Amino acid sequence: MKFFIDTADLAEIKSLASSGLLDGVTTNPSLIAKSGRDFKEVIKEICAVVPGPVSAEVAGTDYDQIMKEAAVLRKIADNVCIKVPLTPDGLRACRHLSDDGAMVNVTLCFSAAQALLAAKSNASFISPFVGRVDDIGWDGMQLIADIVEMYQNYSFKTEVLVASVRGPLHVIEAAKMGAHVATLPPAVLRSLFNHPLTEKGLAQFLKDWQGTGQTIV
Ligand code: G3P
Repeated sequence: MKFFIDTADLAEIKSLASSGLLDGVTTNPSLIAKSGRDFKEVIKEICAVVPGPVSAEVAGTDYDQIMKEAAVLRKIADNVCIKVPLTPDGLRACRHLSDDGAMVNVTLCFSAAQALLAAKSNASFISPFVGRVDDIGWDGMQLIADIVEMYQNYSFKTEVLVASVRGPLHVIEAAKMGAHVATLPPAVLRSLFNHPLTEKGLAQFLKDWQGTGQTIV
C-alpha cells in the first residue's frame, strides 16, 4: 500500500519525507489556502522533495479552463499529478490529459458509480472521501470496499486513493481491503507509530540496559 501525505505544509513534508514512508503528496485548494503560500511555487518545492506523484488541483470547472490550467501545472515538474473534480467536464479533461500522458487524480468522489466513471475515463487515481462520507452518517469504508471489489472485476489502470482519512482505523481497513493508496494528514501518519506497550516496553528496556553499565559504542 502506498502512503501519500495530505498537506501543502512544506516543513511537514520535508520532515516526513526523511522517514522513507512517503510515496507521494496530495494537496487541494483548502490546503493551499491554509499554507498561505503561492500555489505554483509550493507545488514546485514539494515536487523537488518527494519524487512520487504530487497532486495539484485545478480551480477551473469548465473543460477549456481545466485544460488551460492543467497545461500550466504540468510544466512545473514531471511528477505533478493533475487533480480534477468528478464532474462531466472534469472527467472529459481526465480522459484527454491521461491520453496525453499526464497523471490524473479525480477528486470529490462519494459513490461507487462516480468511481466507475473515473476508471472509464482512464484516471490514474480515484479519490473517495471516506471521512466526509462518515461525517454525514454513511459508511465511508463501505464505499472503499465497493470500489475495490468493482475495479477487481476489470483491468482498469485506476488506483483507489483513500482520501479524507481521519484516523488509523481508516488506514488499516483500507489496507485490509486492498486499496492501493491512502493519503494521510501528517498527524494520522505519525499516529500509526503509537502503541502504549511499545512506549512502556522501550522504557523498561532502557532502564534495564542502564543497569548493566554497558555501552555499545
Ligand atoms: O484532499 C482531499 C481530502 O483528503 C480532504 O480531506 O479532511 O478535508 O475531508 P478532508
